[in-house]
Amino acid sequence: MTISEATVAIIGADTIGGTRAEHFAAGGRNFLLAGRDPEAAAKLAASLDGHTEAVTVDEAVGRADVLVVAVWLDDFREFIAQYGGRLAGK
Ligand SMILES: NC(=O)c1ccc[n+]([C@@H]2O[C@H](COP(=O)([O-])OP(=O)(O)OC[C@H]3O[C@@H](n4cnc5c(N)ncnc54)[C@H](OP(=O)(O)O)[C@@H]3O)[C@@H](O)[C@H]2O)c1
Repeated sequence: MTISEATVAIIGADTIGGTRAEHFAAGGRNFLLAGRDPEAAAKLAASLDGHTEAVTVDEAVGRADVLVVAVWLDDFREFIAQYGGRLAGK
């Protein structure tokens, strides 16, 4: 699989995650977006010209081949504790 064929998900939809989302959309990339606040993620997704599907973190982990985790270190530790077992091969 090449990166262009991979399903990519951004986890964390604020400063860095939101900026990455805007860049991906501007580059024509389709991707999943998962934030802790689903309404905020959905609002951002709706502004990105149909490139973005807002999903839950759980769904993003399940569907994505590549995850861009844009959260702070403590939250990243929690993310790994919760989802680490499902990240093999991603
Ligand atoms: N901002 C910068 O200039 C900058 C530059 C270089 C590197 N970074 C790095 O980038 C990372 C993110 O920084 P940021 O500035 O984007 O932080 P931010 O603006 O606070 O955004 C982080 C977002 O991630 C959400 N989040 C936390 N845990 C989550 C989870 N388990 N699932 C889904 N969403 C989750 C947060 O939700 P809540 O608000 O509910 O917690 C928040 O919306 C950090 O590790 C930082 O060191 C940032």
